[in-house]
Amino acid sequence: MLHDRGHWSSRLGFVLAAAGSAIGLGNLWKFPYITWDNGGGVFVLMYLVCIAAVGLPIMMAEILVGRSTQRSVVGALKEAVGPAWGWVGGLGVLTGFVILGYYTVIAGWALRYFFDCLRWSVQGFDGAALNTNFGVFVSDGSQQVMLAALFMLLTVVVVLRGISGGIERAARILMPTLFVILVLMLISALSMEGAQEALAFMFTPDFSQFHAGSALEALGQAFFSLSLGMGAMITYGSYLSKEESVPKSAGIVVLLDTLIAISAAVIMFAVIFSVPGMKEAITGSTAGMLFITLPSLFYNEVPFGVLLAPLFYLLVCFAALTSTISLLEVVASYFIDERRWSRTRATITCGFGVFVLSLLCALSFGAWDPLSSFTWVEGKNGLFSHLDYLAANWFLTLGGLLITIAVGWVLSRSFTETELTTPPAPGWFSYPAWLFFIRFLAPLAVAAIIVAVILGADFS
Ligand code: PHE
Repeated sequence: MLHDRGHWSSRLGFVLAAAGSAIGLGNLWKFPYITWDNGGGVFVLMYLVCIAAVGLPIMMAEILVGRSTQRSVVGALKEAVGPAWGWVGGLGVLTGFVILGYYTVIAGWALRYFFDCLRWSVQGFDGAALNTNFGVFVSDGSQQVMLAALFMLLTVVVVLRGISGGIERAARILMPTLFVILVLMLISALSMEGAQEALAFMFTPDFSQFHAGSALEALGQAFFSLSLGMGAMITYGSYLSKEESVPKSAGIVVLLDTLIAISAAVIMFAVIFSVPGMKEAITGSTAGMLFITLPSLFYNEVPFGVLLAPLFYLLVCFAALTSTISLLEVVASYFIDERRWSRTRATITCGFGVFVLSLLCALSFGAWDPLSSFTWVEGKNGLFSHLDYLAANWFLTLGGLLITIAVGWVLSRSFTETELTTPPAPGWFSYPAWLFFIRFLAPLAVAAIIVAVILGADFS
């Protein structure tokens, strides 16, 4: 490699950055709602199985490809697997671009809620304003565009500063803060009346609720939540030193992501179950739980809510930011590694390109009718929801399937075994088991999702 690509300063740096990528709106916004929608315990159980049987092996596969080639997604797949596989990397870059385009809009909402909560905490909560204003807020085009732009700008500023000086440094500050806030929230939520019921809802599977659709939904969520299927972990793995164990690093990231998703759901359910009638009042909107239901509960029900409300939305912003950073890094590092652009040029150009897409998404919540009200896919409405559908249902799963085939079937066993066991893997890791999962179980499960999507199911 001619130019210095940068690298993590230590394993902790990698783990925090990769956990930062994984922990995001998927954990705080999507997971609680999907769990709710799919009957609680039985869904959580399926999700855990998907994480362990599919997510963890693919996480190792992606980090392995990145670490061994020390190149970003397109170059890494070309070099490790073969020239024809470059386009799978290209699909990853495109996916990063698309997800980033709509993700920043929701991240922008969290930013706005953080400032609102700061104001409410000081001046008193204005519930009437909140309830009537959500629709007005999301259809206020200029505000939506400004918030998405602001979030994109924050992302660009971090990515501009490179791997150890930008991404790792941000993760070292944001992630520990996020963990502390989450623990505080958890303590407060567990002290509420609804905590018992929330735990029971989450951890006692009711098998009568089991159906294939939610098993597949659990798998799709596992991909999105772990940032798999589009090369984010290949890219982050490419800055990892060969002295660090792949299974160990992957294990820690997967564990952290899962703990945070579960804690976030426990917190939200404990709050919701503590208020009589609230359970029934939750409507069919994903946005609703985080942005309509929770704020008023914070001020009216949660112990220390005045303090915790702004902190909570700060946590959502931090989680989203470390994810948008990884998405932009996948896109920018393609231009840096493969096109020899400088980091500055790549980051600013890609950041601007994504912003154009975000701008359109930001206007698709009612601000601009042609973007807000078309339906190409049944049940989807407007640009935002179509892009989420396209990325989560098609791009991530397809990318994930191709990556498992590449690593499981094209790469030689001796190569993958050496990569996974040098330095020595932790005791819980078994290479034959990993090989079985990556060759058979993971691709079959992912193929099952794709077939189900073709037959009309929706996991976004
Ligand atoms: N994992 C992130 C989340 O849970 C989203 C993401 C997907 C980030 C794919 C990077 C790549 O919010």
